[in-house]
Amino acid sequence: MTTVQPVESEQSISVSDILNKNVRKHGLTFVSSLVSVIRLSRMYGFEHTMVAQGANQFIQSVNVFAGTEGYAALEARSEFLFLNEVRIKSVTGGNEAFEFLRKTLTTRGIGKVLFKAGVTLAQIQGLCQAVQACRESDKEPFKKVLEQLVSKGIDLITVEPPLEVKITSSVADCKNRSVEAYYKTMTVFREVMAACKINGKFPFRNSKRAMHSMIDTAQEDDTILLSLCAVRKPEEYAVTHATNTAILAVVLGNRLGLPRKVLSDLGLSALFADLGMGEVDSLITSKPGPLTDREWEAVHRHPMSAVKTFLQSSRMVDVVVRCIQTALEHHRGPDGKGYPKLPDGVKNTLFSDIIAICDSYDALTSPRPFRQKPLSPPEALGVMREKVGTKYDPLLFKVFVNTLGIYPVGTLVLLDTREIGVVIRGKEDPKMAPRPQVRLFCNSAGKTCDQMVDLGDMNAEGLFVRSVQRVVLPEELKIELRQHLSLL
Ligand SMILES: [Fe+2]
Ligand SMILES: [Fe+2]
Repeated sequence: MTTVQPVESEQSISVSDILNKNVRKHGLTFVSSLVSVIRLSRMYGFEHTMVAQGANQFIQSVNVFAGTEGYAALEARSEFLFLNEVRIKSVTGGNEAFEFLRKTLTTRGIGKVLFKAGVTLAQIQGLCQAVQACRESDKEPFKKVLEQLVSKGIDLITVEPPLEVKITSSVADCKNRSVEAYYKTMTVFREVMAACKINGKFPFRNSKRAMHSMIDTAQEDDTILLSLCAVRKPEEYAVTHATNTAILAVVLGNRLGLPRKVLSDLGLSALFADLGMGEVDSLITSKPGPLTDREWEAVHRHPMSAVKTFLQSSRMVDVVVRCIQTALEHHRGPDGKGYPKLPDGVKNTLFSDIIAICDSYDALTSPRPFRQKPLSPPEALGVMREKVGTKYDPLLFKVFVNTLGIYPVGTLVLLDTREIGVVIRGKEDPKMAPRPQVRLFCNSAGKTCDQMVDLGDMNAEGLFVRSVQRVVLPEELKIELRQHLSLL
């Protein structure tokens, strides 16, 4: 297992990091206790001990948030739940409760429920009754819930309708910010490479700012960033590969719950892990065909070349030390049998094992001159799976696969309906991983179309409407993936 190194001083974690972590940590209890109160009270009534226990647990949860922020705001936005603006992610097996709560709110036209400090058992009971009194068939369900709350004199719980305009603009904003963060990171990488070539030194100045933008968007919704990773530019391999590796590392690190400061160092370490490739002769890196042993030797020298460059940094701050470690270790593998050879017993850092996975995944799915075509995302994961334990840390690989899903964002799929589309969003519930959301661009008659579908949708007989038949490569269809990923 990977050795987790001490990553930072406590001072480097901001207050908002702690609050966000706090929300994520307690958010699961918040959601699950509210769901059990709604469900159990419908079956047994509020007098039942089990219901009262659940309600008290929920009240405690409300107080955790209201104690620090003055309120607890539960929001159903798109297909997610947010608590005080922080997206709450379900744990394995908990997705059903999330989905229940999200549907309970949205079918009643509720966008947000605001709980204030001091909320009582009677008020929670009133909320449950108001929600249960409302039917999906009601014409104005939101109005009905609101009226019930007011008539019961509930003043510490309020509901708000979804802010459609705000939602639309927030999705659009997230897309713009993701695209901006992606290109900002590419620019930073180009600038650093140019500076290294001119004076052999490594400037960090703008890199951190670009990384913070990327972390912000990854924490809000990583789908657009992952879509950007799926769009390849063969002519700009070095820069796109570095940027994609950084994004994948930040997304994986975020899934592992690493704090913001650590994510920033991780992203930068990933961005510059292959810095030494700039020293490898371009005749080798662009050679169309397999490399000779001698050429591979030259490629295998890139970790040491990067270390030499980093060592010329004027200030040996934390992040530079991390870059040195990861540049040196990202091809060693957890068994230490990769390259370069280091003394026995030297364990890789967590960063190096994360970056090893992200670096390989992006390289395998990218067009490269030495092989005919890139692997599809699922093929790449399959190839990597065979080297788990030697080249890739088993636990990190598992989290990586769970993060990307069986069909990662950007995978082109042929469906059993003969329709073709691109995966635009995966499912958090591992059981639903084979059923992502797909944007169709070719209908069953072979005609162009543009339709969003969810492979989790069932027909009246309880059968899935569509399933993936097989994965296809953009090269097979001669299409421009970017066009179909909602990135334009
Ligand atoms: Fe490398
Ligand atoms: Fe690489």
